[in-house]
Amino acid sequence: MPFYHKLGKIPHKRHIQFRKPNGDLYYEQLFGTVGFDGMSTNSYHEHRPTQVKAIRAQYSVAPKIAKENNIQSYRLRGFQVSPENDFLESRKIVLTNSDCHIALAAPKQSTTDYFYKNTDSDEMLFIHKGSGKLRTIYGNLDFKYGDYLIIPRGIIYKIDFDTEDNRLFIVESHRPIYTPKRYRNWFGQLLEHSPFCERDIRRPEELETYNEKGDFIIKVKKKDEIIEMVYATHPFDVVGYDGFNYPYALSIHDFEPITGRIHQPPPVHQTFETDAFVICSFVPRLYDYHPEAIPAPYNHSNIDSDEVLYYVDGDFMSRNDIEAGHISLHPAGIPHGPHPGAAERSIGKTETQELAVMVDTFKPLMVTEEAMKIADDNYYLSWLE
Ligand SMILES: [Fe+2]
Repeated sequence: MPFYHKLGKIPHKRHIQFRKPNGDLYYEQLFGTVGFDGMSTNSYHEHRPTQVKAIRAQYSVAPKIAKENNIQSYRLRGFQVSPENDFLESRKIVLTNSDCHIALAAPKQSTTDYFYKNTDSDEMLFIHKGSGKLRTIYGNLDFKYGDYLIIPRGIIYKIDFDTEDNRLFIVESHRPIYTPKRYRNWFGQLLEHSPFCERDIRRPEELETYNEKGDFIIKVKKKDEIIEMVYATHPFDVVGYDGFNYPYALSIHDFEPITGRIHQPPPVHQTFETDAFVICSFVPRLYDYHPEAIPAPYNHSNIDSDEVLYYVDGDFMSRNDIEAGHISLHPAGIPHGPHPGAAERSIGKTETQELAVMVDTFKPLMVTEEAMKIADDNYYLSWLE
């Protein structure tokens, strides 16, 4: 997150002696991104963070592709993804390209016997159902319904759920996830016209420090494989850190919608950006107030981006027969628009309660075998009169 954060105890300058009460040195680690040009964090550890004891299993978790070159619109019934005990095994990639994976997950259990680190991707976990605590090497974040959790690549974490009833919408991004540049000034501060500001962004405020030796398993995701590495010390042994690279949370309920007299284009809903896709929040809002306005969107041809809408809650004015947990995929190359009757239905309405997350990718998405298990194969016919 592009603003400075400090937690725990750190010395008054970088790269100088910083000693434990017994006189030994703490171990400093500079955790950088994008070479030494991206955001970085400087942390201080009880033990060397490099003590690998063993490298155990290594196995592929790459998605299996069902349709590589897809031009068919799909509806995926996300809540048909079966709950599974394990957090990682519960994650089902439904759409993918060389920039990102889009996944659904219904994990029942907290991660207890391992830690997880995704070195391929920044992760966005959207909490549709459930609550709990994200525990990371850089501190903890409580989460609940409607939260976006942004976990930059390489940050070691565990996740604790309060109950077994959890539903997550996940994007793994091979490119860093940022807030939209047009909403930031040249210092990085979010501007007055931004739909959210720094007060809405929750940073880790609770740092757990364990000074423990033993066998600690970190499941490392690298090049779509999980590699189980055994470390000799507890990964959460940080006594303090500062910098710009840390996990954070933003609630979709804190996104302030931008509205107008006539239909506003999708970019007003933009919440995050990468080089390869955008993430947008569609939140309850007042409708367009021109006396002749049509609040439903016009037909549009996103000729060079695939549009993925994940429906969270409320009524979805432009779609017929869409429920919470559904995904609609409208691929690049062909137009899409409101279902028959939706435009007429929207006239005269003054507000909408819809809540949805949109991912627009600049490269086409491939449809996976996991997606086909929950796909409505006839959705593409649903605009026929
Ligand atoms: Fe669209």
